[in-house]
Amino acid sequence: MKYVEICQQAIFLAVTYISLIQADYAPYFYDNAPNSTNGNMAMLSIPEDTPIGSHLYTLNGSDPEGNSVTYDMTFEPGTKHYFAVEPQTGKVTLLEELDREKEDEIEVLVGISDSVNKVVEKVRILVTDANDECPVFINTPYIINVSEDTPSGTSLFKVFAVDKDNGSGGSVTYFLQNTRKNKFSIDRYSGVLRLKSGVNLDFERSTAHFVTVTAKDGGGKLRGKHRICSSSTTVTINVLDIQDTPPMFSGTPYFAYVYEDTKPGSEILNVIAYDGDRGNPNLIHYTIAHGNDGSFDINSTTGAITLLQATELLQKDIYKLLIQASEVNTDVDAQVFMTAMVTIQVVDLNNHGPIFYGVNGPQSQFEITMHEHPPEGEILRGLKITVNDSDQGTNAQFNLRLEGPEGIFRVIPQVVINEAQVTIIVENSAAIDYEMIQVFNFKLLAIESDTPEMFSSTADIIIQLLDTNDNIPKFTSEFYIARIPENSPGGSPVICVTANDADSEIWGDVKYSIYGTGADLFLIHPSTGIIYTQPWAVLDAEVQSRYNFNIKAADVEGKHSLAEVFVTVLDVNDHHPEFNEDILEKVMIIGLPVKVEAKDEDAEEPNNIVDYSIMQADPANVFDIDQATGEIVLKSYIKSLEVIHNITRNKDCKWSLVVQAKDRGSPSFSTTAVVRIDITEEIKSRLNSYILGLRNQPWRIFRICLSMVTFIISLTVIISGLMFWKTVKRSRIHPHSKRRKIVKRPTQRKVAD
Ligand SMILES: *[C@@H]1O[C@H](CO)[C@@H](O)[C@H](O)[C@H]1NC(C)=O
Ligand SMILES: *[C@@H]1O[C@H](CO)[C@@H](O)[C@H](O)[C@H]1NC(C)=O
Ligand SMILES: *[C@@H]1O[C@H](CO)[C@@H](O)[C@H](O)[C@H]1NC(C)=O
Repeated sequence: MKYVEICQQAIFLAVTYISLIQADYAPYFYDNAPNSTNGNMAMLSIPEDTPIGSHLYTLNGSDPEGNSVTYDMTFEPGTKHYFAVEPQTGKVTLLEELDREKEDEIEVLVGISDSVNKVVEKVRILVTDANDECPVFINTPYIINVSEDTPSGTSLFKVFAVDKDNGSGGSVTYFLQNTRKNKFSIDRYSGVLRLKSGVNLDFERSTAHFVTVTAKDGGGKLRGKHRICSSSTTVTINVLDIQDTPPMFSGTPYFAYVYEDTKPGSEILNVIAYDGDRGNPNLIHYTIAHGNDGSFDINSTTGAITLLQATELLQKDIYKLLIQASEVNTDVDAQVFMTAMVTIQVVDLNNHGPIFYGVNGPQSQFEITMHEHPPEGEILRGLKITVNDSDQGTNAQFNLRLEGPEGIFRVIPQVVINEAQVTIIVENSAAIDYEMIQVFNFKLLAIESDTPEMFSSTADIIIQLLDTNDNIPKFTSEFYIARIPENSPGGSPVICVTANDADSEIWGDVKYSIYGTGADLFLIHPSTGIIYTQPWAVLDAEVQSRYNFNIKAADVEGKHSLAEVFVTVLDVNDHHPEFNEDILEKVMIIGLPVKVEAKDEDAEEPNNIVDYSIMQADPANVFDIDQATGEIVLKSYIKSLEVIHNITRNKDCKWSLVVQAKDRGSPSFSTTAVVRIDITEEIKSRLNSYILGLRNQPWRIFRICLSMVTFIISLTVIISGLMFWKTVKRSRIHPHSKRRKIVKRPTQRKVAD
């Protein structure tokens, strides 16, 4: 400062000296410059948020001589050059950003000069505040520990935030987010964080809370706009556990078993409990509080329950032990404990297998009698079976099943625990058939399902079946074919039919009967099934050779079936072959045969087949006869009458033959006839024979007449036909007929349309 003043003094002296020499007055800044400051910018105040390059001020001065002045501006060494000045106009602009919080006053040396003299003045410029700073929390992070039993409303902590701005922009107030949900509140001005009144902390529910605190300033201008600045931080509140929760058992409910072979000292079950105050758990001490009669013990530190006595000495089937878990606590007043029930069941070993019982105790065979074909689903009530396994639990569980009658009978239940009534039910009625099986003999099995031993037992079930009339008599065939010789005496057996009824005793008895149109001549024996002819019946193959009728076989209840019987009456050789006449006159033309014929009235071959033979001829060796047809021919060497004349004694041409007709029946019947043969020469004899023939056969005359009449009629028809054709030909050329043809055409067309 001194140095500056000395300098100023020196400069002043120098200037005075120079002005005295040159008689020139120094320039000066106006006093009454705008903004009620001097023209030298003294006491100018600038907001800190003024943008760089802004025109701040105009330096204003003058020279007494009226010379033009120039301005300049210098800064103390080591300080920022905040401003610049235009030498001619004195216009001052901002060069550097201002920050009131760092520098609220700027010292500048402003100069004015008139080329001869220069005046420098030191001025102070004030920097004014803008709301450019935000509140900043001090001493973060905020982590606090609060005991869970802290009373509600207690002050927990004080947060503090600083805003460097002035005035309203620098004042700070505090807020919490989610105030409604929060267990905490904050004092707006002091920043003191409290547990809300009426609210408590609970470590078991929540071990920490995170509270967001916001600090807000009072607001202010920044670059022409109103602005409120805020910032936030989190307060972590760790809740400290205190001994306020009793122990808790894990794995409840507890069940355990003591088996018959469990040795004293064996561990049966391990209970475990944890301190509810997990933040700082205590050790647990276990005791049996109730229910023990000296049979069990518990390890006070591990919670292992052991058996003390031999199982035979245990009085009860089920023990209910009340176990108490207490915290081993240094705090004498807090006696916190929890209890749990342990159920211990004394279980037997699987010593017993299932046993079947009848009405009077254990039984291994059950027997009933019943009718065949009971309805499906019927219960065999006659069997009174129970089954029992005197063990316990799974040891007493077993399956029932039938071995043998799969699909015919069924047993229920299939799974048994301890004891059950055994029911056997009919499943397939058709298979329960007396005709197939009279006695069912099968096994009922009970087998343990869940034990390693798989004890089992069996019982025999015997079911005697009784027959019912469930079968229909059935003929051995759908039809029967019988043959009986004709002329059999009345009452002859024809055929024996049989119908079988599978039922037994009276249900199997069959009664036969006969009916149908062809049955008149027959009867059937009702029990033997033999069919006889009626006593009065005469069968004649030549009258009727075939009969058919129905027969019926019925049982006592009328169940029946039918069959058909076909009876063929066999022919018997009861007829002789017979020639038309005893003496037959025949004319023979040499080279042609004459025929004789005998009829046999029998119905069938061979009884009606006739064989012909020549018994006698005089002279012999002239004729041959066809055995089957009865045609008589001359022997082949006889070719003319001359030969014949030479053979015959009388040289005439007449022969007498004895011809026999014999049937093939057995015994065989035969008959003879005399055939007189007159042999003639060919032509003469032919006419002769023709006339002879005509004389014998009047129908032949009629036939000749008929052929002649036919011929005449045919001839007439042909001639008249020819005549008619001729006249038609001629009438076609006639014009009248032509016109008729033309007229006809349109009608034809119309029809076509
Ligand atoms: C300087 O001050 C004089 C006297 O008060 C005034 O007349 C003039 O207008 C000012 N000049 C500027 C540029 O302000
Ligand atoms: C409890 O069990 C532990 C661990 O097996 C054993 O060391 C301790 O002796 C037992 N306490 C009693 C009283 O039997
Ligand atoms: C018939 O008999 C006579 C005398 O016995 C014989 O001469 C003649 O040749 C015979 N005729 C024929 C055709 O055999």
